This record gives sequence, structure tokens and C-alpha cells, in this order.
Amino acid sequence: MISSPDAAKIILVSQAHLFKPTYPPSKMKMIGPDALFFHQGEYHSTLKRLVRVSFSPSALARSVPEIEKLVLSFLSSWENNSTIHTLHEMKKFAFDVAMHSAFGDIEQEEIQGIKCLYQRLEKGYNSLPLDFPGTPYHKAMKARKKLTERLKKLIEKRRENSERRGGLLGVLLKAQEENVGNGLNDNQIADNIIGVIFAAHDTTASVLTWALKYLHDHPNVLEDVTREQEGIRHKLESEGNRGLTWDDTRQMSVTSRVIQETLRSASILSFTFREAVEDVEFQGFTIPKGWKVLPLFRTIHHSPDFFPQPHNFDPSRFQALPKPNTFMPFGSGIHSCPGSDLAKLEMLIMLHHLTTTFRWKVIGAKDAVQYGPFPVPKGGLPIQVYPRN
Ligand code: HEM
Repeated sequence: MISSPDAAKIILVSQAHLFKPTYPPSKMKMIGPDALFFHQGEYHSTLKRLVRVSFSPSALARSVPEIEKLVLSFLSSWENNSTIHTLHEMKKFAFDVAMHSAFGDIEQEEIQGIKCLYQRLEKGYNSLPLDFPGTPYHKAMKARKKLTERLKKLIEKRRENSERRGGLLGVLLKAQEENVGNGLNDNQIADNIIGVIFAAHDTTASVLTWALKYLHDHPNVLEDVTREQEGIRHKLESEGNRGLTWDDTRQMSVTSRVIQETLRSASILSFTFREAVEDVEFQGFTIPKGWKVLPLFRTIHHSPDFFPQPHNFDPSRFQALPKPNTFMPFGSGIHSCPGSDLAKLEMLIMLHHLTTTFRWKVIGAKDAVQYGPFPVPKGGLPIQVYPRN
């Protein structure tokens, strides 16, 4: 287990070729063995480049109106609904954003079909990998197979109509047509689409849930965020009630610091797994081939050497840049998260509308945590919401 920033950098960045990512085989089968997480070398770098194109700032800037539309439709469903299960709601929201990012323009009926299968897959994701009829794992694997079939039909349809219709699927289909990286087959495309949806939604939803908890527990921080967001709202109103743009989100410095502090404090990805691909001499020790190596993000994020009084929620600490390799909520090196800008963008847009429209009170246990597998406030943070004014 690695808890020093310099050692984490060696594992994840400078000697990354000696430490491959590893996941339990059952999880690999469920997400899809061709998803980029599980690979090193040329296949990984080709796919990573394509995913990065799809989530680049210029692509994200175009998706701001759609994300804002999703936020508004979510929040309007809260109005008559006084008790909210925060994690469930945020999962629905982050899933819809992930679907839009993955498929671009897609029919509602198609979304519902994929959502239904994905939910069945998710139910068995953390179960024991016992693959016989009736077990949650077996049901999840059946849903996974149907999901591939459904995606392959969608790929076929888009190819027949020469439609790419945006999103990561559009980028991957174009790469397939142009024979990028010796061409991608439909299985590889399907596994990477499912992989990205998987990586995108539970993570973002858990972080948003923590953000609501921290804002609730720190009314002064909530007021600072609201003041900043009110300023932006007035600007939008004075410019003909226009919607948010990418540039507006770049002005949200107070809210961005709250997101950074939430990422540090909650550290929902507490660590990651690597495996030595050969015997490696490391700081006077030998790490034998096949041994697991775990860089512990949470331990680094909670070290008083890098973040004084680490248990205090204090967004102002991010007014200064953290020391190198001490803040890695999105990992580091070749396997670092390609969705970090999307995650931050959707959180900023959600917090803009949430803090200027609503207030909320946490119901039940205050400081208990549950793991599912990411740490989240117990019970998924049930809250009572009411209009701000
Ligand atoms: C707040 C939300 C998120 C957090 C905290 C997060 C965190 C991370 C971390 C720590 C890694 C590196 C894992 C490792 O090194 O083993 C990672 C990888 C990844 N993330 Fe995210 N992520 C988030 C949201 C997203 C989103 C929205 C997407 C959608 C594109 C995404 C897609 C991916 C992918 C595809 C990888 C694998 C990259 C590779 O292996 O090269 N993530 N994420």
C-alpha cells in the first residue's frame, strides 16, 4: 500500500508500464473485457485518445445546454416532492448525462431500454460471482449480454443510415470507418460505451451527494456559493434570460473550490489497484511479479502534512494549488480519468440551479457512512427540500 505522493507518482506515472491496472475477472466480464480500463499499450492509448476527444472542453461546451435541460427537468420534479433520496436522484441525473455523452442524440425509447438492462446489470455488480440460474450475478450477466445485443443493433442502425449523431458512439464509429488503430470491432465499441457509462454515473452521483451533505452542514459555505451563483443568474437575466454557457461555468471559482474540497474530503475512490508485471526494485524493496500495489488516494488526501486539519471541510484551502501529487481525485498518469471535466461541469450546473432555488434539511442519521461500494452518507442522504425563498 502506497501512501506517499512521490511513490504514488512512480507507480501511476513514471513507471506506469511496470504496474498494470487489475480488476477481479468477474467485474471485467461484467463491464466488458475490451473496455479501456483493463488495457495497457497501443490499444489503450488509441481508445484513450478517442475518449478524450469526446470529452474535450470544446465537445463539452456544446453539451452545456443539454445538461442544463436535464438539471432543470430534475429539479422541477422535486417541487411537489418534499422528501428526496439524494443518492437515487443524483444517480438518475448522472445516468442521463452519461447516456447523452455516450450516444449524443438518441430516442427516449432506446434510452429506456438501455436503462432497464443497465439497472439489472448494476444490481448484480457487487454480488458474489456465482454464475448459475437465480443468482444476482447470473441475472446481471444475462442483462449484460442483452445490453451488448442492443448496442450492436444500435451501431448497425447508425451505420446503415450513415448516422453518427454525436457522443462517444459517434467518435468511435468515425474511428471505425477510418480504420483508426487497425479498426475497432463492434464488441470493442460496445464494451467501451458500457465502460464509460459505468465509470461516469455512480462516481459523479456519489460526489454530488456528498456536496449536498457538506453544504447542508456548512451554512456559511452554502451562502458563499449561493452569492456567487446569484451573481451569475443576474448576469444571465440581464442578457435576455439566456442559458448557462461553458464560459459561465469557468467563472464559478467559489463553487469549484467546494467541488475540489468535496472530492478531497469524501475521496470516493479511496485507492486504485495495480499489479507488478515483473519483479520491480522499488525504494529498496522488491515487489514480486504479480503482487498488487495500491496507491491510497484517501490517505494522501487526509494527511495533515499536505492538507492541514484534514477533517475540516474548508474549500478555501484550494485558493492555493495543492503540492504536486497530493491531490488525485481523478487518478494520475496514463489511466487518469478522461471524464473529470464532464464530472465537474455537471456538478457546477447542478449546484448553480440547486443553490439558487432550494434549501434542504438532512433527515435521519447525521454522520454515518455506507459503502455501495463508494462511501456515501448513510441511507443515501434522505433530505427534505423546500423553496429557497
Ligand atoms: C466525480 C466523478 C469521477 C471520479 C471521482 C472519477 C475518478 C476516476 C479515477 C480515480 C480514475 C483512475 C482509476 C485508476 O487509475 O485506476 C478514473 C478513470 C476513468 N474514468 Fe473517471 N471519475 C469520475 C467521473 C468520470 C466520468 C464522468 C467519466 C466519463 C467519461 C469517467 C470515465 C473514466 C474512464 C473511462 C476511466 C479509465 C481511464 C483509463 O483507464 O485510461 N469518469 N476515474
